[in-house]
Amino acid sequence: MKTTRLLATAFGAALLSAAAPAAFAQAGTKIKVGLMLPATGTFAALGTAIENGFRLHVAENGGKLAGREVEFVRVDDESDPAKATDNVNKLIKRDNVDVLIGTVHSGVAMAMARVAKDTGTILIVPNAGADAVTGPMCALNIFRSSFSNWQPGYAMGDVVAKKGHKKVVTIAWKYAAGDESVRGFKESFEKAGGTVVKELSLPFPNVEFQALLTEIAATKPDAVYTFFAGGGAVKFVKDYAAAGLKKSIPLYGAGFLTDGTLEAQGADAEGLLTTLHYADSLGTPRDNAFRLAYAKAYKLQPDVYAVQGFDAAQMLRIGLEAVKGDLSKKAEFAAAVQKAKIDSPRGTFSLSKSHNPVQDIYLRQVVGKENKIIGVASKGLADPARGCRL
Ligand code: BEZ
Repeated sequence: MKTTRLLATAFGAALLSAAAPAAFAQAGTKIKVGLMLPATGTFAALGTAIENGFRLHVAENGGKLAGREVEFVRVDDESDPAKATDNVNKLIKRDNVDVLIGTVHSGVAMAMARVAKDTGTILIVPNAGADAVTGPMCALNIFRSSFSNWQPGYAMGDVVAKKGHKKVVTIAWKYAAGDESVRGFKESFEKAGGTVVKELSLPFPNVEFQALLTEIAATKPDAVYTFFAGGGAVKFVKDYAAAGLKKSIPLYGAGFLTDGTLEAQGADAEGLLTTLHYADSLGTPRDNAFRLAYAKAYKLQPDVYAVQGFDAAQMLRIGLEAVKGDLSKKAEFAAAVQKAKIDSPRGTFSLSKSHNPVQDIYLRQVVGKENKIIGVASKGLADPARGCRL
């Protein structure tokens, strides 16, 4: 009797495993997704929007990707590079996650990329633009659903030059994101004949802007280019206006300056021009559907961070479907994601060889509570991916 039952069970299992490859090899097992995002600090709202976007795509697929139910494990990375290696190791070694999704801050993302590269864990970066992640640190198992810091900066350099500005002061946080955004801006602005006359900075996440604003007023440039995001961007835009500079020296920025921040910035942001791979007024059927679904699910309007989270989940689904849920097939996973046309709310994009989005960078203007598209600053812009060997 006992033997018969055992045989029947074994037969059933054999039938199941024989049937599985036709559909999804690991359909019965959950996939553990490690979300390493900021839940506190100046980038907390950005982390929430990314998670919301990611979960929205999973929910639209019935809570499963490639037939595998998705289980989330979350870590608050506090946007602190000093804690990043420990945090990512906890996810991999203690929680045994199958995939890593993170993060917002470039310094934290570089630590994640190092560990992902060493362990072979699939990593999808849903924001942090650190050029190195898809440059010298690029790897078969590392992908980005967002941008490189160079991209919006480079697009804006051309815009500012075409406006006829010759002398520009830059101001940004002193870490990879600020430095690289300014470098991208400077590259195209100076190629077009302009000069960056002063590069001002302050440590992340410091928001004591007063002395630097006084220096800008004394320098009297034709314009200012800036990189700030989240809570820091809110304060910078308000302080710039309060110092009386908004009326006399035009302010331009990478679009993070005004994305997800407009409620708090109010009239001080009105009219600002920024460059980014998303805008609130694209009006395409794809974007309209996304915005409607997001607003319904979260009672909030989406922003660029929500889009990047949504697209990170799309990229994971595409890779997983190609390997029928079997994440040990890394090369097949990578090939599928790399050749995919990702149907993003921002517009369809694909990945470069180094796994960074090749995408349109929009020129946007703040009108009321929206970043309205007023043109395409750079069409199909690919990051130069200096130093990537794949
Ligand atoms: C970064 O650290 O790469 C980053 C943070 C916020 C917005 C954009 C980029």
